[in-house]
Amino acid sequence: MCGVRKIEEINTQKELPAAEPDRQFYFMEKCRKWAKGFEAENGRVPTACVVNMGCQMNARDSEKLVGILEESGYRIKESEDADFVIFNTCTVRENANNKVYGRLGVLHGYKKKNPDMVIALCGCMMQEPAVVDKITRSYPFVNLIFGTHNIYKFAELLYTAVSKRGTVVDIWESSDNIVEDLPSERKYPFKSGVNIMFGCNNFCSYCIVPYVRGRERSREAKDILNEIETLAADGVKEIMLLGQNVNSYGKNLKNPVTFAQLLKQAEQIEGIERIRFMTSHPKDLSDELIEVMKQSKKICKHLHLPLQSGSSRILKLMNRNYTKEQYLGLVEKLRAAIPDIAVTTDIIVGFPGETEEDFEETMEVVCKVKFDSAFTFLYSKRTGTPAAKMEDHASKEEVKQRFDRLLKKVQTIAAEKAMAYEGAIQKVLVEHRNEQDGRLFTGRMSNNAIVHLPGTADLIGQIIDVRLTECKGFYYLGEVC
Ligand code: SAH
Ligand code: SF4
Ligand code: F3S
Repeated sequence: MCGVRKIEEINTQKELPAAEPDRQFYFMEKCRKWAKGFEAENGRVPTACVVNMGCQMNARDSEKLVGILEESGYRIKESEDADFVIFNTCTVRENANNKVYGRLGVLHGYKKKNPDMVIALCGCMMQEPAVVDKITRSYPFVNLIFGTHNIYKFAELLYTAVSKRGTVVDIWESSDNIVEDLPSERKYPFKSGVNIMFGCNNFCSYCIVPYVRGRERSREAKDILNEIETLAADGVKEIMLLGQNVNSYGKNLKNPVTFAQLLKQAEQIEGIERIRFMTSHPKDLSDELIEVMKQSKKICKHLHLPLQSGSSRILKLMNRNYTKEQYLGLVEKLRAAIPDIAVTTDIIVGFPGETEEDFEETMEVVCKVKFDSAFTFLYSKRTGTPAAKMEDHASKEEVKQRFDRLLKKVQTIAAEKAMAYEGAIQKVLVEHRNEQDGRLFTGRMSNNAIVHLPGTADLIGQIIDVRLTECKGFYYLGEVC
C-alpha cells in the first residue's frame, strides 16, 4: 500500500473536510465504520472484487480502486461472488462494450443469492450517455455508476452506495482536477505503472478515447518523481510511465517540461532499474527522446509506436498527422541510434474507405519495418467519432481476409526476429509463477519479450541473467546462468 496519508489522521466526528484528498480519507473512515458493522452482523469482513477491462491506464486506476477498498475495510478477492464488485470498463472497440453486458448477467445471478451485494460500474464506457441510459433502464440491479473524471471520489461514492438503496449515478463531463496522494495497491511489489498524464488531444478520427478521457492534462514533474521515489523506496525496480501520448507530456504545464527531460530525471532515482513507457505517438517522437533513450542505462530497449495504417491517404483520414514515409524515416533514425531496440505497433484493418491498395501499403510497411510484435485490430465504428460518418467501402469478408493476411505476416516476421536471440544471454525480470506449468517462472527481457524458465519462487522480483535456450515464436524457454 502506498497511501501517503494515514486514515487515522482523519476524525469523522469532525466536519467534512472541503479539500481533497482529505475529504476522501474522511469517507474511507466512514466506510470502515460501516464495514465493522457488517462484520459484527455477518461474522465476516465484507469482500470486494475489482475487474479491470481496459488498457494499462485503466489497470492503474483499478489499483487505486483496490487501495481505497482496502483502506475502507474490505478484503479483496479474485472471484466475482463478492459483497462489492466493480467493473472498470473500456469502450475503445464495440466488443469491449458487449462483454460488459454479458458479464452483468452473471453478476445478477450472484446478487440473487446475496441481495445486499453492491454492483458498481466505472471507467471509459460510463462516459457515454447512451450506455448509462441503457444500464439504468435495463439493469436496475446496478447500484453505482461513475466515470473517468471523478474516480478520485470513489470513497465518497462507495459510502453513498453502501448506505443508500437504489442506483447512484455520478458522471462528470470533464475535470481539470488531478488529485494526488490517494491510497493505491500494486499488483506486483516490484513493478508499477505511473500516470504521467491523463486524457488525449489528438482526436484520431476513429478513436473514442478523447471523448471519454477528456483533454490532455500532465501531472507536475515533481509529483511524478516523488511518486517514483516512494515506489523505489518500497522495492519497485521497474516503472511504466503511462499516458495516451507520452511524447507530448508537459507541453501544457505552467513551466513546460519535455518527456525526454522527465525521463532523464526519473533515471536518477536510485533503486529504479528499468523504465518503460507507453504510448508514443509518431508525430511527437523527438530527436531529444531518441538521444535520451540511447544514453540511458535504465530505459528499456523497446518502443511501442502505433502505425495504424501504412497508407498516407488513410493516415490523413485517420488524422494521425504523419505519412508512411515519415513513419519509416522515424524507425530508421531510431534503429540507427539504438540498433537492438524492439519496435512494436498497433494496426487497424478496415478503416472506412480502405482499399486493397491502401492495405498493400500497410503490408509493405510491415515487411520493411519488421515489427517485433504487433497488435492488429478490426476497425470498430464508435458513435460520435468523425470516422463513424465516413463511407465504408470494403465488405466484411474482404476486411476479415485482409486481417488474416496481416496477422499471418506479422506473426511470421515476429517469429523470425525472435529467433535471432536464441542462445543469447539476456537480463530478465522474473514476474510470476507460470499459470500452466507450476515448475516454470515467467519474466520479461528489456525488449519486453517473454521468457519461461525453471527456478524457485525467490527469483520473483529479481533481474537475473538468463540463457535463451529455445525460441518458441512468441516466447522463449530459458535457464538461469
Ligand atoms: N493512445 C494510443 C492508443 C490507445 S487505444 C495511441 O495513439 O497509440 C489502443 C489502440 O486501439 C490504438 O492504437 C488503435 O490501434 C486501436 N483502436 C482505437 N480505436 C479503435 C477503433 N475504433 N477500432 C479499432 N481499433 C481501435
Ligand atoms: Fe486515440 Fe489517437 Fe488519442 Fe491514441 S492518440 S488515444 S489513438 S485519439
Ligand atoms: Fe479503453 Fe479507456 Fe483505455 S477506452 S483503451 S480503457 S483509455
